[in-house]
Amino acid sequence: QSFFKPIQNTAPPSPTKRHTKISVIGVGNVGMAIAQTILTQDLADELALVDAVKDKLRGEMLDLQHAAAFLPRTQILSSTDYSVTAGSDLCIVTAGARQNPGESRLNLLQRNVGLFKKIIPPLAQLSPDAILLIVSNPVDVLTYVAWKLSGFPSNRVIGSGTNLDSSRFRFLIADHLDVNAQDVQAYIVGEHGDSSVALWSSISVGGVPILSFLEKQQISCEKETLERIHKEVVGSAYEVISLKGYTSWAIGYSVANLAFSILRNQRKIHPVTVMANGFHGIEAAGGGGEGGEVFLSLPALLGRGGALAVTNVHMTEEEAQRLRDSAKTLLELQRQLEL
Ligand code: NAI
Ligand code: LAC
Repeated sequence: QSFFKPIQNTAPPSPTKRHTKISVIGVGNVGMAIAQTILTQDLADELALVDAVKDKLRGEMLDLQHAAAFLPRTQILSSTDYSVTAGSDLCIVTAGARQNPGESRLNLLQRNVGLFKKIIPPLAQLSPDAILLIVSNPVDVLTYVAWKLSGFPSNRVIGSGTNLDSSRFRFLIADHLDVNAQDVQAYIVGEHGDSSVALWSSISVGGVPILSFLEKQQISCEKETLERIHKEVVGSAYEVISLKGYTSWAIGYSVANLAFSILRNQRKIHPVTVMANGFHGIEAAGGGGEGGEVFLSLPALLGRGGALAVTNVHMTEEEAQRLRDSAKTLLELQRQLEL
């Protein structure tokens, strides 16, 4: 079994293309955190902003343009008309309702599916070679919805998924061990949210696999600590939303990091929402017919062609079963949708 299980037809567009255009749909807390991080990281020649609220949209564009003296040159456009997104390389979708304090992400589904029916078709028609990066919640099911509505191959429809959950996990482990979070390798996979799955065997610090280290040192308490940390990750968004009303900065850096890996063809592995059928015992989609496709976060290789491959990351039977249970929950929700 090779380390990677390739995803088909992932050839990037012609390498001669030099001009890079990113569109951000939705200029709320999340969209603007992403936009300003993209500008500081010099990721695009052109940044197009779209929203339904005209004045707010123009205000956000002007406010970003006024920072030009401190940033790498990027042409910033905006319009309530989706034609401003034409020819995008990457379309980042953050438009939609957000959770109220205590509300689950899945509770946003009906409202945001309705929005996607208006947003995704024009994006796909105006940028037929783009990669769609979905952020709006519930991000896993909405990535499926974007895939269905766009007609794009699955490698070009990705969700930000548990890239954020994994970053929270890495921060909390690093904080506990008093080391740099960039020296902590750890994956959370599955649903971005309440049923996410921590891959304990994937955790390593400075290349030392944590679990085998703890077993060798007979430090059993640390396993409980790791379980407490995962629970803290699952509760993170609820806590931040109860305190400041929404989350924005971490997702801003998370999505800009994904945009960098994609547009700069980094071939970097990220836990992001991809079509998960056929991996880790998740049933193959309903034989070419309607339905059965499920999108969940797995460690995927990201490059200019989008999701290039999924790693055959080791999972215990319990972890794989939890992933399959999560897939079943999302499939039941999807089957109720009328797209
Ligand atoms: P927000 O309310 O600040 O912004 C949403 C924006 O969408 C508003 O500016 C609104 O005008 C715009 N919008 C509504 N209908 C539109 C349409 N038809 N076309 C274009 N724009 C439209 O909300 P916030 O805090 O930015 O969150 C946005 C979404 O991102 C929510 O669904 C939230 O749950 C999700 N989110 C996802 C995260 C993840 O890890 N996947 C993390 C944080 C938020
Ligand atoms: C998060 C929610 C809002 O910040 O999806 O994880």
